[in-house]
Amino acid sequence: MLKLHDLYFKPFISEQEIDTAVQNMVNAVAKDLEDEMPVFVGILNGSFMFVSDFVKKYPKPCEVTFIKLASYEGVKSTEDIQRLIGLTQDLTGRTVVILEDIIDSGKTLEEVHRIFKNENVKDLIIATLFYKPEAYDKDFKLHYVGIEIPNKFIVGYGLDYDGLGRDLPDVYQLKTTQHMTNIVLFGPPGAGKGTQADFLKEKYDLVHISTGDVFRYNIKNETALGMLAKSYMDKGELVPDQVTIDMLNKEVEKNADAKGFIFDGFPRTNAQAKALDDLMDSKDSQINAMVALEVDDEVLVERLLKRGETSGRADDADESIIRNRIKEYYNKTAILKDYYSAQDKYFGVDGVGSIEEITVRLNSVIDKL
Ligand code: IMP
Ligand code: MG
Repeated sequence: MLKLHDLYFKPFISEQEIDTAVQNMVNAVAKDLEDEMPVFVGILNGSFMFVSDFVKKYPKPCEVTFIKLASYEGVKSTEDIQRLIGLTQDLTGRTVVILEDIIDSGKTLEEVHRIFKNENVKDLIIATLFYKPEAYDKDFKLHYVGIEIPNKFIVGYGLDYDGLGRDLPDVYQLKTTQHMTNIVLFGPPGAGKGTQADFLKEKYDLVHISTGDVFRYNIKNETALGMLAKSYMDKGELVPDQVTIDMLNKEVEKNADAKGFIFDGFPRTNAQAKALDDLMDSKDSQINAMVALEVDDEVLVERLLKRGETSGRADDADESIIRNRIKEYYNKTAILKDYYSAQDKYFGVDGVGSIEEITVRLNSVIDKL
């Protein structure tokens, strides 16, 4: 994932694929031009990288020059009028090959045809690395097209978003969904996970997805997935991950406008973590962090015993049961800590202190995501 200014981009076309496309274009042009010496004309700024790679691969002698689009001065109009400038060479009788990084609406290409109309060139050949057929509404022939792409904004390999991204060797595509903050929240029993989840939900406008709640909801309402899950549970079998993922998918889709999600109680295994990554990926999104509240065992035991005194919860009254639950938590989460650490997404947060202090620590982690 890539962030330029306020927008997020995802990997789209690799350096390798671009290299292959450029090579194919070079081969086709060189073959068609035979022994004609072309003048390659790049349209700045976007085409600098393409032109450079193209002419390095070009197997025969050639000339290279550039022209540039500039805002037309002296015209006061809301419509931004752009004119191509910089054509100083006499191109009479020459074979001109325009090298464009991208053809979108075709406005630039129209401008190219306008300025070459009176140049008496022998041939005006158009070659573009990227082409958006859905956006193109002109009739000019495109002689060579590298890669056809959908009508979505891209950056990299010479193309920019407001000045940034030209230097990238790969091409990235604008993400259609806005940036979400998706957190997998962990905490041992007694760490105050529920309390903190409520604060996070409020502050960041996130949707809290507790897998336990989702299960109970689906079973209680006898949804198709709930019935399916129940059929496994009735046989004493584990509910397959895919059923759980399908339920989570429904929750995510129900909240399509959410700023993000807090996943609670899922994933529990490597396979589930991978499945959750795939789910988020299919939504053009991702898990940004595993946030785990870290509290010393002795503090937890003390907290839970104290809670047991007032809540009457049996499992909070017995120290050995409490210690077992804590141990089990660490056994289960160790795998996930490794999984998310490998992606640089594990954030341990000190869970000892007042509720407010812990909230502040959590916020400082999430604000940086
Ligand atoms: P046109 O609409 O074909 O005239 O394209 C105009 C110009 O807009 C191109 O030369 C690029 O500089 C820019 N452009 C069009 N589509 C994209 C894109 O997806 N990413 C970055 N720049 C683009
Ligand atoms: Mg351009």
